[in-house]
Amino acid sequence: MKELKYINKYFSKYKWRLLIGVLITVFGKLLALRIPPLVSNSLNSVEEYLKAKENHLPKVALEQLLLEVETQLLINVLIIIGVAVLSGFLTFLMRQTIIVTSRFIEFDLKNEIYQQYQRLSLNFYKKNRTGDLMNRISEDVSKVRMYVGPAIMYSINMIVLFAVGFTQMISIDIKLTMYTLIPFPLLSISIFILSKITHKRSTVVQEYLSKITTFNQEFFSGINVVKSYGIEATIINDFDTIADESKEKNIHLQKANALFFPLMVLLIGISNLLVIYVGGKQYINGEILIGTIIEFMLYVNILTWPVAVVGWVTSTIQQAEASQARINEFLKQVPEIQNTNSSSSKLKGNVTFKDVTFTYDDTHITALKNVSFSVKPGETLAILGKTGAGKSTIIELISRLYDTKIGAVLLDNKPIKEINLDDVRSQIGFVPQDTFLFSESIEDNIKFGKAAATEEEIIAAAKSANVHRNIIDFPKGYKTILGERGVTLSGGQKQRVSIARAIIKNPKILIFDDCLSAVDTETEEKILSNLTQISKNITTFIISHRVSSAKNADKIIVLEQGEIIQQGTHNQLITKEGYYKYLYEKQLLEKEN
Ligand SMILES: Nc1ncnc2c1ncn2[C@@H]1O[C@H](COP(=O)(O)OP(=O)(O)OP(=O)(O)O)[C@@H](O)[C@H]1O
Ligand SMILES: [Mg+2]
Repeated sequence: MKELKYINKYFSKYKWRLLIGVLITVFGKLLALRIPPLVSNSLNSVEEYLKAKENHLPKVALEQLLLEVETQLLINVLIIIGVAVLSGFLTFLMRQTIIVTSRFIEFDLKNEIYQQYQRLSLNFYKKNRTGDLMNRISEDVSKVRMYVGPAIMYSINMIVLFAVGFTQMISIDIKLTMYTLIPFPLLSISIFILSKITHKRSTVVQEYLSKITTFNQEFFSGINVVKSYGIEATIINDFDTIADESKEKNIHLQKANALFFPLMVLLIGISNLLVIYVGGKQYINGEILIGTIIEFMLYVNILTWPVAVVGWVTSTIQQAEASQARINEFLKQVPEIQNTNSSSSKLKGNVTFKDVTFTYDDTHITALKNVSFSVKPGETLAILGKTGAGKSTIIELISRLYDTKIGAVLLDNKPIKEINLDDVRSQIGFVPQDTFLFSESIEDNIKFGKAAATEEEIIAAAKSANVHRNIIDFPKGYKTILGERGVTLSGGQKQRVSIARAIIKNPKILIFDDCLSAVDTETEEKILSNLTQISKNITTFIISHRVSSAKNADKIIVLEQGEIIQQGTHNQLITKEGYYKYLYEKQLLEKEN
């Protein structure tokens, strides 16, 4: 149980609640164990009366005895009812304390995992599948919870019931106790084996469940491809295959589950038979009273569940151990991008690349080779180049989504690794290449850049991004909900909302990664001219495939296969033979046509 030690800190956090729970459990079980002796006592007194009757006692004495027996029975019944009600109430309290604590611990653990998700860098997400990540927070945590809650609760149950019940039984009759308990180890072991089988099969069922979910998710998001290619039949076929397999696995699981109760009933039955047979013989020989037989049968019923649970608990703890091992391994991961500086400072906006060579870890693609350039505060740098040339990679390095190992990225002439990461992220406005908007209102999406933004600021940002007119055309204006159950924006509208989101941040560095590709040249021009007004003091990076986006920049660099092949101003570059001039002439022609 090495891995589960991690949970101990939570146990100590909730120690009082747990302790009360344990005490309540112990007390509740002690109470429940008072019932069998009372039943036995009642039966014995009835038998005593019957014997007295057989022995032809005087009528007066007999009547006196009957009255005594009746009173005794009434008292016993009342006590039994009282004990049962109280013990039931304590069981309720036990769940309220121990199971509720397990829910608290589950909540804490989930939060811890979630925070780690937020801390980890981009690279981690590329190396792990979404399904596995989701599983860690749902499946694995719930298995650990089973250990924290039910497993511990049943263990205490089992220990108390067995220790006390066993002592009570032994004190009455050792021989009968031994016979009664013969099937119990068998019960424990078979439930353990069965639980292991069920756990294994239910893991498979879970895997299929997540397969089906993933399949559907992908199908839903690709619905327009599916419809326009008319491949519904294929999709149905594929779905049928998975669903069929999933059904088989479920049936397989249910077969194991179905054995659970019959097995228990069988073993209880054997125990009870032994009590009746062995106890009956002892009774005939006058070794025990009739009440003892009934008392032992009650013990069998009380002890069966805790004994069966030993097997279940053992297998549950093994499962929890494996899940916690996965959680621990994940929590131990150190984010690649570390914040080494906690003092905050304002950026000026100087960006310098010094001989940067960058290779992606997972694909081993060298996206940048010996890239050097420098941009002063307030300047605009345009980056052009064919697809896959490394443009977005430059941007990712400036936002410190990755760290470079060769060469240096400097902000305000300081290595970016030495600057407070929060400063870097909060003072850069980034419009990514594939725009992502959340399924919330347009207003909220823009406010992502600045949570405290006023309405005027939101409108000003939207105007600068040239999307204000589009927004107010929607019936609900800025309150229009986007995404799944809302309005679908056109590609260009999305790009412009995400530009507004970056502008409203009022950053020191503004980055546009090819985000004017879906707007027409006229709108592009308007946005760019708005930008020149607001970005006087902002260092701006414009990535584009179009010369029109780049021509007003202070500096233009052209990338090819990760290397800078040309740099200069628009006027310098159009006079030199090369990619820029070629692009310029080609796009000029397109415009004229
Ligand atoms: N996250 C990544 N992991 C691994 N390799 C990547 C990653 N991103 C990009 N690459 C690879 O690095 C190279 C440069 O990609 P990059 O995205 O910088 O190109 P780009 O110039 O922005 O292209 P585009 O104009 O198509 O956006 C490509 O070969 C690409 O396959
Ligand atoms: Mg790109």
